[in-house]
Amino acid sequence: MKVRCILLLAVFLVARPTADCTKGSVPAIMFFGDSLVDVGNNDYIHTIVKANLPPYGRDFEGNVATGRFCNGMLLSDMIGEKLGFSSSPPAYLSPQAAGTNLLNGANFASAGSGYYDPTSLMYGLIPLSQQLKNFKEYISKLVAVAGSSQAQSIISDSLYILSSGSNDFAFNYYINPLLYKTLTTDHFADLLVGISIRTVTQLYGMGARRIGVFSVPPFGCFPLAITVFGFGSSKCVPGLNDDALRLNKKLNAAIDLLSKQLHDLKIEFLDIYTPVYILSTSPGSQGFTETRRACCGTGTVESTILLCNPKSTGTCPNATTYVYWDVLHPSEAANKVIVDSFAQSINQLVI
Ligand SMILES: *[C@@H]1O[C@H](CO)[C@@H](O)[C@H](O)[C@H]1NC(C)=O
Repeated sequence: MKVRCILLLAVFLVARPTADCTKGSVPAIMFFGDSLVDVGNNDYIHTIVKANLPPYGRDFEGNVATGRFCNGMLLSDMIGEKLGFSSSPPAYLSPQAAGTNLLNGANFASAGSGYYDPTSLMYGLIPLSQQLKNFKEYISKLVAVAGSSQAQSIISDSLYILSSGSNDFAFNYYINPLLYKTLTTDHFADLLVGISIRTVTQLYGMGARRIGVFSVPPFGCFPLAITVFGFGSSKCVPGLNDDALRLNKKLNAAIDLLSKQLHDLKIEFLDIYTPVYILSTSPGSQGFTETRRACCGTGTVESTILLCNPKSTGTCPNATTYVYWDVLHPSEAANKVIVDSFAQSINQLVI
């Protein structure tokens, strides 16, 4: 792996001195977690949390709604592109996740899911524990396609990305008295971080050696959060962002500790909080004009979990200057800014 990477670097150095050593440096990518990375698994399960109708996918290749909670590409698509893949690996539950396609990895994520399985079960989503079981099944399919020794090297050289945690707060803790009356936010954050570390350790146990774990975004800046919890203010809700920061701090520390214990594991905390916070509080600095209102969704009345659907009125004609596509999800343009902000950390993982 190293040798191949160095060779690629040498080629790039001749052709283009600024190129980095990422293209072709991992054989496959595996994604786990929530809507920030799910490319359409929810289309294949019984849930109302789906993005399989327009205007979702409006700016995606072919202008189709694929199940991505975005107008265009997700962070998972962009990570795939940066690593030299022509597309992100398919949703594991889709018919495309078969045969030689499996060689490039698979996407196990489920929009709306959390670290804490009850969060996902409440909405009929794929809990993280089940996503790992699906990965285990994937490994056996990969062995059938590639043979066990090639499968083993794919598993250990692949990049693994985990994105979770915000739905546990937004769609469980904040609205569920059984949780908020019995657990402080600190304790709930500890619970989530414990699950995150256990998940990473399980992936390591199955052979993963390059793992990126997303922080949670500043969910107090999501248009839905400002509408519901903002008491008429149009600013990010500080209490919610404090909870996100608290979780991120614990998660970052736990990842640090784990990396000291597992010496052959490359693991990076991928900070998406900072770029999303900057986009949300000073959009102009990044060339954006709108952050309070989502392109699809009014920013004042959000009564449906579907957020944005074919009946949504007033969807903006061009989302390129909107930070938020719907009231919970960044636009493709924002995703580009976010992915660039942690490109360096991804390089560390794949080098
Ligand atoms: C949206 O605006 C951008 C920047 O002005 C432009 O490049 C792009 O072509 C527009 N897209 C559509 C679909 O009109």
